Amino acid sequence: MPERPSVPRHLLGIEGLTAGQIAPFLDLAESYALLSRSRSAPRDALRGRTVINLFFEDSTRTRTSFELAGKRLGADVINMTVATSSVNKGETLLDTASTLNAMRCDLLVVRHGQSGAPALLSQKVEASVVNAGDGTHEHPTQALLDALTIRRHFGRLEGLTIAICGDVGHSRVARSNIHLLTALGNSIRLVGPPTLLPSAMAELGNVTLYSDMDEALKGTDVVMSLRLQKERMGAGLVPSSREYFRFFGLDRRRLALANPGALVMHPGPMNRGVEIASDVADSDQSVIAEQVEMGVAVRMAVLDRLSRARMPS
Ligand code: CP
Repeated sequence: MPERPSVPRHLLGIEGLTAGQIAPFLDLAESYALLSRSRSAPRDALRGRTVINLFFEDSTRTRTSFELAGKRLGADVINMTVATSSVNKGETLLDTASTLNAMRCDLLVVRHGQSGAPALLSQKVEASVVNAGDGTHEHPTQALLDALTIRRHFGRLEGLTIAICGDVGHSRVARSNIHLLTALGNSIRLVGPPTLLPSAMAELGNVTLYSDMDEALKGTDVVMSLRLQKERMGAGLVPSSREYFRFFGLDRRRLALANPGALVMHPGPMNRGVEIASDVADSDQSVIAEQVEMGVAVRMAVLDRLSRARMPS
């Protein structure tokens, strides 16, 4: 009998997950995408469960989609606003975690500016912890939603060439995508200025580094543009936004170097005219809105699968 994939208790990152562990998230998310479109998601899948969104950094897409995902499945969802919480009075991350633990929440969705913060919390609370983005480390649900979007367009998620462009060094999205897409047998090209492209990233599997955007895009199936994360960088890493766009901006001419019909992706939020031209972001090749839609489906699948891991057998 084939072995059933075990359901993880937490989702802290993609690194180390096998193709067999990734696929069940995507398959369940695909079914939730279809059910969401027909407005028939099973509203009792998480009935009686409590989800707390604990975001120490700003978010539009991730926080809203976790909230929608929990509500579509019938969970009680609480958004803890850090700006008005006792964190502002000096309460530590671990004391905040102990407080939430005492309230017996089932799923804790955490975004934090420090890499490793969700992993630390997962050792201190009984809830299942989902990493909603930690520092420059990982953003696992973003990689899952990107993977689902790609799979829906190509009908497969292997043997593709995917360019990840721009501020790779500061990007948790890039790291999670590299782990996921290489685990499934795709080739990754990373392109950006040397100041934003650590050479160690070439050691992450089937990954090639480029400093020339035109070269990197030739013959690619997917072009993923990344936000220039000025809030995480020191001075002098990029000359100016205008100069950056000239060398690393995704415009019509550059997109034409990719394979015909190549997908344009961006995790958001976008800086139009800095890493991506507006007409490319809004073009027929852009699947940026679909990424957002798949974000809800993927987060439904993640909350559902992790909550099943908590059920007594
Ligand atoms: N992609 C992403 O994480 O977007 P938010 O910061 O809006 O959640």
